[in-house]
Amino acid sequence: MMINNLCLQNFRNYQDEKIQFMPGSNILVGDNGQGKTNIIEGIYYLLTGKSYRVQREQELLRWEQSEFHLYGDFLLARHKILLESHYRDKKKIVKVNQVPCRRLSDFVGTINVIFFSPDDLVMIKGGPAERRRFLDLHIAQMRPGHVSLLNAYNKAVQQKSALLKSYVEKSLKYSQLQLWNEQILELGEKVIRNRAELAERIQRVADDIYMNLSSEKEKIQVLYIALGKRNINNAIAEFSQLLHDKLEQEIERQMVLVGPHRDDVQILLNDRPARLYASQGQQRSLVLSLKLAELELIRQEKGEYPLLLLDDVLSELDRFRRDYLIKFIESSRIQTLITMTSAESHLESGALYRVEQGHIRREP
Ligand SMILES: Nc1ncnc2c1ncn2[C@@H]1O[C@H](COP(=O)(O)OP(=O)(O)O)[C@@H](O)[C@H]1O
Ligand SMILES: [Mg+2]
Repeated sequence: MMINNLCLQNFRNYQDEKIQFMPGSNILVGDNGQGKTNIIEGIYYLLTGKSYRVQREQELLRWEQSEFHLYGDFLLARHKILLESHYRDKKKIVKVNQVPCRRLSDFVGTINVIFFSPDDLVMIKGGPAERRRFLDLHIAQMRPGHVSLLNAYNKAVQQKSALLKSYVEKSLKYSQLQLWNEQILELGEKVIRNRAELAERIQRVADDIYMNLSSEKEKIQVLYIALGKRNINNAIAEFSQLLHDKLEQEIERQMVLVGPHRDDVQILLNDRPARLYASQGQQRSLVLSLKLAELELIRQEKGEYPLLLLDDVLSELDRFRRDYLIKFIESSRIQTLITMTSAESHLESGALYRVEQGHIRREP
């Protein structure tokens, strides 16, 4: 998978800028605040329909403008795909090969992308929500149905939560809660299975990568913890009973306590939680291994590597890990966009671009 051209109009600090990318490494160099990350964000937005930085499109609009447009020429299995994202009158329009797309999920996952920045350390250090998000984003790229499944599940949780907080006559409340519990059970089981399956596949690949990446021979485990349990089948078998048992407590606390919206992913290094015991360097290696494992899984399933977007990552890694990553990029010939503040790129080859105050210039 590849991006050939990108055009950004009134997106962030770009007025009307085109950039042509090359196969292999594309290095975006510029001082802070010039617009390097905005390019990465634009590509990510085109491919996923979302920014990873902000919730609202309004913030992506160039200041004082009322519409933005993004155009990207991509290559998938040697076929050209033109993706467009238009934001106008507070509405989003997406087009694939000039045909409007009705639902976001119709096109997300066609061309895959892996984004990696220093902030990804939250996968290790942050709370369960960050780790669930990591799994969900990956699944969404591979199985478009996962997005609508999650939406439906979250809606059931929200409705149940609203009901728990509302003043409704007791017997009516119980019967309505029962209905939402049925939804939560049915949809929640699918969410759990999707996530647990991915966690297992990631672990298998990430474990090998980590072995090569760390001098010590440590073992990684990526365990999906469903409803507080490691054993997924047991968790699912007891799901219904748990919903029943916790109902009184849920009513008392006015909170939805049971379901995969509260699940976690345990990332263990030599059987110990990495969040608590891994050093900073080990945590970085872990995140890098998880990201590279994602790449590998996409390649296995789609037969092609996704695009790789590395935002300020190289300078954060120590030499050994950086060399490993660069060797991987160069040998796999995966198309990679790399941002950095100085041109000493450590890369032997690659196209170089200078980014300055919303202008992009290819350098010889
Ligand atoms: N909505 C916006 N409209 C215009 N400029 C913006 C907008 N959002 C951010 N910027 C500008 O973009 C620049 C930051 O771009 P960014 O890509 O994050 O920089 P960097 O090169 O450090 O990665 C800042 O100068 C900021 O003022
Ligand atoms: Mg940046």
